[in-house]
This record gives sequence, C-alpha cells and structure tokens, in this order.
Amino acid sequence: MSSTAQPTVKTYQNYIHGKWTANAASQTFPVYDPSTEEVIAQVASASASDVDQAVKAARAAFDSGPWPQTTAQDRGRILFKLAEKIRQNAAMLAEIESRNSGKPIVEAEFDIADVATCFEYYGGLANKVTGSVLPVPANALSFTLREPVGVAGQIIPWNFPLLMAAWKLAPAIAAGCTCVLKPAEQTPLTALEFANWFEEVGLPPGVVNVINGVGEIAGAALVTHPGVDKIAFTGSAAVGKIIVKSAADTLKRVTLELGGKSPNIFFADADWEAAVDGALFGVFINQGEVCSAGSRILVEKKIYSKFVESMTEKAKRIKLGPPMDRDTKMGPLVSKEQYERVGSYLELGKKEAKTAIGGGRPKGFGKGYYVEPTIFYDVDNNARISREEIFGPVASVIPFENEADAIRIANDTPYGLAGAVWTRDIFKAFRLVKSMRAGIIWVNHMQPTYVEAPWGGYKQSGFGRELGPWGLEEYLETKQVFVNLDETPIGWY
Ligand code: NAI
Ligand code: MG
Repeated sequence: MSSTAQPTVKTYQNYIHGKWTANAASQTFPVYDPSTEEVIAQVASASASDVDQAVKAARAAFDSGPWPQTTAQDRGRILFKLAEKIRQNAAMLAEIESRNSGKPIVEAEFDIADVATCFEYYGGLANKVTGSVLPVPANALSFTLREPVGVAGQIIPWNFPLLMAAWKLAPAIAAGCTCVLKPAEQTPLTALEFANWFEEVGLPPGVVNVINGVGEIAGAALVTHPGVDKIAFTGSAAVGKIIVKSAADTLKRVTLELGGKSPNIFFADADWEAAVDGALFGVFINQGEVCSAGSRILVEKKIYSKFVESMTEKAKRIKLGPPMDRDTKMGPLVSKEQYERVGSYLELGKKEAKTAIGGGRPKGFGKGYYVEPTIFYDVDNNARISREEIFGPVASVIPFENEADAIRIANDTPYGLAGAVWTRDIFKAFRLVKSMRAGIIWVNHMQPTYVEAPWGGYKQSGFGRELGPWGLEEYLETKQVFVNLDETPIGWY
C-alpha cells in the first residue's frame, strides 16, 4: 500500500490471490469521514475484469492447491488466529470503523469484539461438521458428506462493516469455501486492513479476496459471474431483488438479509423505565442504521400519551457528537446519500404524522451528516414512514387498542426481520412471540445479538440464516452416498 501526497489519505488496492493489486485502469474512488465530510482514503475501484481476476483466484484456490487439502482442524486454527489478530488490533480497527462509518467509538469497540467472537465461534465449529448415516435397508449403506458450496461472493453493507464481513467470511472459511468479499463502497477500510493479516495466519492465496467497488459494477459482476457458486448479501430489499433476478441465469445459491420495519411493542404492564429505554435504544442505536431497528413503536392506548412524552424527554438527553468522543451516543449518518435519503423521510414524516422531537439537522453542527433523533407519533400504519425502511434515527409511534390489534399492526408489513414485545405477562409475551411473523423476536429487550443464535428474516426481509450452525449450513452442500452391499446383479435385463 502506498500513500498519496496528502499523508493522511491512504490508498488501498484490491486484495487478489494474496497480493495487493491496483485496478486495471488505475481508477480509484474516495472514502469519507462522515463527521467532517473529508476524504480519508482512496480505494481502487474494481471493474468487471478485476472482479473476474478475483473470482478466478478464488476458483483456482477452491479447485486445486493447498486449500482443499487443508484439514478442518487447520481451518479452525486459521480462524482462531484471525480472531487473535482482531483482538490485538481492536483499538486500531475500532477507530477506523468509527471514523469511516460515523458510529460512536464505544459502539465500534463492541462491534470489533463481536468480530473476534465470530471468528472464534466458527473456528470451534470447523471440525464439527459431520454427515449422518441413514437407516436404509440392510443390503446398502447410505450416508451423507457435507462439502463446501464452492466460491462465495459476499456483498457487505456499510452499517456494521467488519462485523457483517465476519458473519460471512468466518462460516465460509470453516466450511472450506473460498471467498470474494466486496465491502460497501462507503466503508471498505476495516476489511482492507483485515486482509493484511491473511497471509500471516496461513490463508493460502486466493482463499479470501477483497475487491472494492460500487455495487452496480463490482457487485453486479460478482452476482453474474459463472465462477461464483453462492452469493451472500446484506443490504437493501431493492438490491436483494436485483440479485435474485440476476443470479438466476447461473442458478447460484443466494442468501439475503434485507432489513425491515420491525415492530417494538409496548403493553401497559411493561416495566416503565426499561420500556422507555428499550424503545429509544431499539431505534436510535447506531444512528438507526440497523437492519433490525425497532422503527415502528407500537404502544397500548392506555399508556400511549405518557409513553410518547417519556420517550421525548429521554431522547433530549441523547448526545450527538463526533464519533471519536467517548460520551457520544449518536454520530453522523454514514454518507451524504444516506443523509439526503433520511432527510426526505423527515420532510415526509412532518406531513404524515405529528412530530414529538427532532425532524432535522441538530443545531451547532457545521459539518457532518448529523440528524436529530426524531420521533413521529400518531402515525398511521399505512403511512409511508411506517412502511418503508428509513435507516436513520427516525421512530414512528403507533397506538394500539389491545393484543389482537397489536399483532395485526405488527404483521401488517412486507418485512419480517425482527420484533420485540414488552410486558410482564408471560402468557401475553409468548402469545405475541408465536403470532409475530419475523425471524428474531426479543422479549423485554431489543437488539442483543449473539453469534450462537440465528439471524435472518421472514417475508421480504430475505431468506437464509446467518450465525450459529445455521450460518455454516448456508456454506455447505449435502452429498448423498449410496453403497451397495448386495453382490448379486440387479438382474433386470
Ligand atoms: P445497497 O443495498 O445499495 O448496498 C449494500 C451493498 O450492496 C453494497 O456493498 C453495495 O455496493 C452493494 N450493491 C448495490 N447495488 C448492487 C447491485 N446492483 N448488485 C450487487 N451489489 C450491489 O444499500 P444502500 O444504497 O447503501 O442503502 C440504501 C438502503 O438500503 C438503506 O437506506 C437501507 O434501507 C438499506 N440497507 C439495509 C441494510 C441492512 O442491514 N439490511 C444495510 C445497508 C442498507
Ligand atoms: Mg444502493
């Protein structure tokens, strides 16, 4: 890697076949610090031919060379070494993540710790992949082999940059796949720093390649490439739909995590302080740029007015500030594009509903893509602000009459990633758990995510699961083996 004239602006290349490689046409794109709007890096922009090189490297590494001979134990050890590198360099990675994405440094530190935990988890799982012996008649033996799916194209979003890369890379390596990872063009830096350690931890060249580039070019080239067996994607539903269509020609396996419009439901009997905190945390953590954001806050009518008031009072205490300040609770949004997108929803929200707090740019911020925590209330569930994913610090509070009403509103969405219910009544809690059509349900909390537990959506929030053994499954094929134990000829002809 080399530096440009301006010493703080680092230039990054693509990591292909174990080497840093410039874009064939030497094109780069700028990467920003969203709190200052300044360029902090220049990154090689992969064209379709750069993607082709990366896929060929991954293909070759999968089909021959040392990788297919690497034992499951050794793949596990590589994953443990990656985790160790992450832990040793956690402060540096958290700082880059925070600076590049705008998320508060304290949250970036949690993310990086989770990255290490994810590599450790799959390091432990690598040599626990087993097939099964099947109860076929006595004159045969039938069993299954679990084999890697092949070359995985992994397309990453910008909200949890290195963590989302870990969720995809770790199970793929454990399974014995090879990878072409495409970080989001807004936030590629931590994944690129991470690639610096691949050789040292013993990943053979071509096993993990990292290419930079915009979705429409580099991402699309990956999705249509005949050398790629599987696409794992996290991002918008719109792009998810494009991916499913364009992966059809080569019939790739596809897993999608597409975000949502998740209901966070509050009954009158919930613990008050915990509930108000949970409503705010559910939607404002990471500036609301969370796929499982509890952006529809459903509140029982009996407590509705007081709940909106309490939320508003507490929201006033949310400290916006530079991401690197340790007391910052909310940094800027990731990019100008996202800032404008969220801004247009704020204008829409002011027309569609009542504003309890926020609705624009906070005072006193000259630069940076900062948005006030915003609470809209008396929102109709048919309003666009309660149907469309905003991906910013914007809550829509919706009143409900009773349990049946809550369930109806909760499920009245094209999405189904997550949901939460707050009540002290265990009967009601579990009825809600069973009634909500979503892949993750929290009871008396929202957002905790553990590598041991599955993550993924129902309905238009996508398909497939990440994390836990479910995440590994998505990188495995099942081969059925039948062994005839009966030596007599078939005798059919
Ligand atoms: P996006 O879906 O366009 O980007 C996510 C990733 O997909 C990036 O790596 C991007 O380069 C890639 N990509 C974009 N177009 C592609 C294509 N045609 N083929 C292959 N890859 C492609 O998300 P964007 O535009 O940054 O954000 C728009 C909205 O998407 C957000 O407001 C939010 O609602 C949603 N989103 C959801 C995420 C989630 O965690 N589920 C994460 C990021 C965005
Ligand atoms: Mg996009």
